[in-house]
Amino acid sequence: MSASRPAVITVDDLSVVYEVDPPVAAVKNATFSLAPGEILGLAGESGCGKTTLAYAINRLHKPPARIASGSITFHGREGDDLDLLALDEHALRAFRWSELSMVFQGAMNALNPVTTIRAQLCDVLSTHVPHLSRKERIARAGDVLERVGVSRDRLRSYPHELSGGMRQRVMIAMAMLLEPQVMIMDEPTTALDVVVQRDILREIVRLRDELDFAVIFITHDLPLLLEISDRIAIMLRGEIIEIGSADRIYREPEHEYTRQLLSSFPSLSGSRGAFIRTGTDEENADEEKEQTR
Ligand SMILES: Nc1ncnc2c1ncn2[C@@H]1O[C@H](COP(=O)(O)OP(=O)(O)OP(=O)(O)O)[C@@H](O)[C@H]1O
Ligand SMILES: [Mg+2]
Repeated sequence: MSASRPAVITVDDLSVVYEVDPPVAAVKNATFSLAPGEILGLAGESGCGKTTLAYAINRLHKPPARIASGSITFHGREGDDLDLLALDEHALRAFRWSELSMVFQGAMNALNPVTTIRAQLCDVLSTHVPHLSRKERIARAGDVLERVGVSRDRLRSYPHELSGGMRQRVMIAMAMLLEPQVMIMDEPTTALDVVVQRDILREIVRLRDELDFAVIFITHDLPLLLEISDRIAIMLRGEIIEIGSADRIYREPEHEYTRQLLSSFPSLSGSRGAFIRTGTDEENADEEKEQTR
């Protein structure tokens, strides 16, 4: 996606501290922007601050976490700018899910075990789009479920009746339900086996192509990020140490740590593009020939 489109979110000089003893500076002066429809990958070792940054952008951080400095601005479709750090709880509730949604680390276990998938999807709709009739809500919930590759018959299911991959798709459906401009996905598929993971990622990229939402995609898995991201940000001990196009990061990493991270994945010594294919089989076969030349 073109990074030249005006940003949908701008994060400027954002620092997050856990006020414990001694305090932990978990995010230090993070500055970046996200273009509409862009997939920005965020990588870095465990504990470098990825989840803390994601929570802060969504204003989901709780004490002892505190935003110590910086700003987060959401640029609306109508050219209006929203200072996310200034929103009160009421405005924040209206903003979340509808403009910015999040799929959490381990989200597939976050579904309510005692109500059906339909009730959980319809609940979000009745809160945010109260004018919809019950019939319209159910239709919309079914549509979004099918979008992520789950049959609408599953609306009647309880979470325990679904596989892990399906539950994770339901969480992604929930995040997409109100067609937000930005989705933050924190390790959305790490708990799943590789084949299911690949299917879901392919789906996310396809939906992004179709619906043009932007994604901040968090994972340790750098090879995967190189596949799906337009740009990649590398974090180290709370700092974004480098950010650039996936191609640039792969071919000319600027930072020593990025080089180390790349070399820690033996699979990356081959060509980029083996994990996920979004083209047709024919295109992929051509690409394969290309790569073996
Ligand atoms: N509630 C908390 N209180 C104190 N320190 C915390 C708290 N939560 C996280 N931290 C610290 O903040 C830092 C960043 O943690 P964070 O969970 O954001 O890392 P991460 O990059 O998401 O890691 P992972 O890849 O393991 O998910 C770590 O040093 C962690 O120990
Ligand atoms: Mg994390």
